[in-house]
Formats: sequence, structure tokens, C-alpha cells
Amino acid sequence: MTNTTFDIGGDLRVNRLGFGAMRLPVSTLDGPTRTPENGIAVLRRAMELGVDHIDTAGFYERDAVRANELIRKALHPYRDGLVIATKVGPLRGPNGLPSGEAPPEGLRALVEADLRDLGLDRLDLVYLRVGGSLELGTGSIGDRFAALAELREEGLIRHLGVSNVDAAQLAEARAIAPVAAVQNNNDGDAGLLAACEAAGIAFVPFFPIGGGGRPLDAERLGKVASRLGATVPQVAIAALLASSPVALAIPGTGDLGHLEENQAAGGLELSDEDLADLRG
Ligand SMILES: NC(=O)c1ccc[n+]([C@@H]2O[C@H](COP(=O)([O-])OP(=O)(O)OC[C@H]3O[C@@H](n4cnc5c(N)ncnc54)[C@H](OP(=O)(O)O)[C@@H]3O)[C@@H](O)[C@H]2O)c1
Repeated sequence: MTNTTFDIGGDLRVNRLGFGAMRLPVSTLDGPTRTPENGIAVLRRAMELGVDHIDTAGFYERDAVRANELIRKALHPYRDGLVIATKVGPLRGPNGLPSGEAPPEGLRALVEADLRDLGLDRLDLVYLRVGGSLELGTGSIGDRFAALAELREEGLIRHLGVSNVDAAQLAEARAIAPVAAVQNNNDGDAGLLAACEAAGIAFVPFFPIGGGGRPLDAERLGKVASRLGATVPQVAIAALLASSPVALAIPGTGDLGHLEENQAAGGLELSDEDLADLRG
């Protein structure tokens, strides 16, 4: 079984197969807004399936459907052991679209909004999310990460992460405060993964099953999928979990059938032959 556990920050134990909340309000950028009732049903089913790590953000919203509010409505009071990770950094304009990055002094308000929307006194894991929609952040992240580290010292945050960073930015952050998790695009950055492995930092790639406009390699994954009687997204999830003991999967969905399918991937066993085929 590929879905073993990982201790985020050394003390928050989660199944390495979690859940991404970005698709609760909408499946694709140009798709229709999903109903709150649908999101609540998906979240409650995720709990039944054993999900104990939800990745979300205050800016996962469409129209009036907001991921954090759905999480609170569906799951509060939260069960013991449920880890909710959020991200701060990007700002949104009045139309809800990205509109620049928050300055260091703007991060407190974003953290407080997440606390309020999720109904929590302390956030388990907060990533500083930098850069554009797809482009990595550039330049120093020191001032902004230091601002989040202060909020952690105050007790508003348990663990810190960084998202969309390069190796130099990860090193810069680690010199300021402990980094418990890195969340970057699922583009196989071996150097960043190695840095995470060496330091026991969770590596939590986004777009783990082909979201973000880069379709999965259906031929490579499909061969293993047909051997196992599994689907291509399931094999992508299992392959990610097999890639490193620090890799965490957060497949995103707002579809009940896809949720069931994705969570079932945690029970897949990959043989040496499967792993060789996945390496290509
Ligand atoms: N830090 C960052 O900058 C950043 C950026 C992007 C995402 N994220 C986080 O990473 C999580 C995962 O990324 P993601 O959701 O963008 O991409 P993803 O997990 O790679 O793919 C999600 C897309 O695939 C579809 N899908 C899900 N399960 C499926 C299945 N079994 N079969 C077919 N299609 C399926 C979803 O549609 P349905 O909803 O219709 O199933 C959605 O369109 C997000 O939810 C979010 O929490 C972080």
C-alpha cells in the first residue's frame, strides 16, 4: 500500500494521501460554479474515506462559494488529527482574480481571515505562496517569511511552509524559521525534492494528477494502470507517493466519484515492474 503516513513538522501525523480543496468551488477555470451543497458532501465523504490532510486557501473561491467556508460548514468542530493547511501571499482584486502579492505587513490580515473563516485559534500549516499563477517566485522572500514567522511565534500558526519557490528561497526561509513543507508544481524538480528529503520536509506538489494544463502521460501511466486494473489518475497518485517518503499527494476534486477513485489509489501496490515502467 502506498498511502503510509508522514509527520509534518515532526509532530502532525497525516496520511500521505490527502485532499486538495481548490476544486470545490469550480472544476476548471472556465467551468460553472459548483454548489455549496456539493462541496459539503465531498468534504464529509472525504472524512469517511479517512482523509486527514486538507490543502486549502482563502483565495479558493468562485462567486460566493469559498473553500474555507465550506470546510468550516461541513466539518467544524473538526475531528482530532485533521490537519488543515492554508496559503497566504497572493491578493485578489474585486473580480476575484490575482492582483499582486501581499507585502509583509499585509500577511497578518490574511492569516486572521483564514482563522476566522475556518473557525480556528491556530492554523496547522501556513504556506507563504509566492510568484505568479504558474511562474516561480523570484527574488528574496525573507521579509514576508519573517512576517509569518512572527505570527508563528505569537501562536497563530503551528508550522510554516513555502510554495512556488526555488532552492535558494527555500534555504533563505529555513535560515529564518523551520520549514515544515514545500508546495511546488509537480514538475519533477529533483534538487528541491532532495533538499526536502535531507531535511525531513514534506514535499506536496500541486497539480498531482494533471490539473493546471499539463495532462498526465497517459501512455506511461496507462500501461501500469491496465496491469493493476486501476485508472490513470490513480496510478499518478500512487507513483507520486512511491517517489519519496516525504511526498504527500493532495489531488483536487469537487466530484464525489473522483474523490472515491482518488482515495482508492492509496491502496494500490506498485511492483518493481510497475515502478520500472513508471520510470520509463
Ligand atoms: N500552491 C499553489 O500554487 C497551488 C496551485 C494549484 C493547486 N494547489 C493545491 O493543489 C491541489 C491539487 O491541484 P489541482 O486540484 O489544481 O490539480 P490536480 O489535483 O492535478 O487535478 C485536479 C483536476 O483534475 C480533475 N480530477 C480530479 N480527480 C480526477 C479523476 N479521478 N479523474 C479525472 N479527473 C479528475 C478535477 O476535476 P473535478 O473537480 O471535476 O474532479 C480537476 O479539474 C489543489 O486542490 C490545491 O489544494 C496549490
